[in-house]
Amino acid sequence: MPGLLLGDVFPNFEADTTIGRIKFHEFLGSSWGVLFSHPKDFTPVCTTELACAAKVSDEFKKRGVKMIALSIDSVEDHRNWSKDVMAFNSGAEGTLPFPIIADDKRELSVQLGMLDPDEIDKDGMPLTARCVFVIGPDKKLKLSILYPATTGRNFDELLRVIDSLQLTAQKKVATPVDWKPGDKVMVIPSLSDAEANALFPNGFTTKEVPSGKKYLRYTQL
Ligand code: BEZ
Repeated sequence: MPGLLLGDVFPNFEADTTIGRIKFHEFLGSSWGVLFSHPKDFTPVCTTELACAAKVSDEFKKRGVKMIALSIDSVEDHRNWSKDVMAFNSGAEGTLPFPIIADDKRELSVQLGMLDPDEIDKDGMPLTARCVFVIGPDKKLKLSILYPATTGRNFDELLRVIDSLQLTAQKKVATPVDWKPGDKVMVIPSLSDAEANALFPNGFTTKEVPSGKKYLRYTQL
């Protein structure tokens, strides 16, 4: 993802979307945001992903995260495709619960480093990869994921990482492998034992390892 690193302020781009023209930072307001890109409208994997995103949109809302999708077709295509997406969800009707950016000139896809050179459309033009950007209320990039066009994403995993990002933005902890909300978390290495005891009312436990180093410290929040 050339040019955009974790901690960078996410570009305040303007774009046409299925809810009209937006300025990204105004669209986000004081919320968290997730921007996820798709290679093309009316394609199979993208349709399954958008349908899943629509199905779990209440979970994003609960976490105060505004969703926005992007694909390299027009607003009109997006609106027509949205009907297929909603119908894919067991024939559900209604509008998609989040907007789709129309990046038909690929300007944003180029700016954000989202084009996948291995996936070419019938005119020889590269398609967008499956990027996910999670943006914090401070408008800074908190997480990016980049999948090729041929691999669909897992929206449960996106919710899981958002839970981790929101928790670790507030508390001096890190979440271990396969962590889920409610599981024990790890005390970050920069905290001394004394600081950890002061910060965590439940204290912490340390797992012994052959090195004798006491860095595997768990706490239950
Ligand atoms: C799809 O969404 O199914 C797809 C799009 C572009 C390339 C490969 C698959």
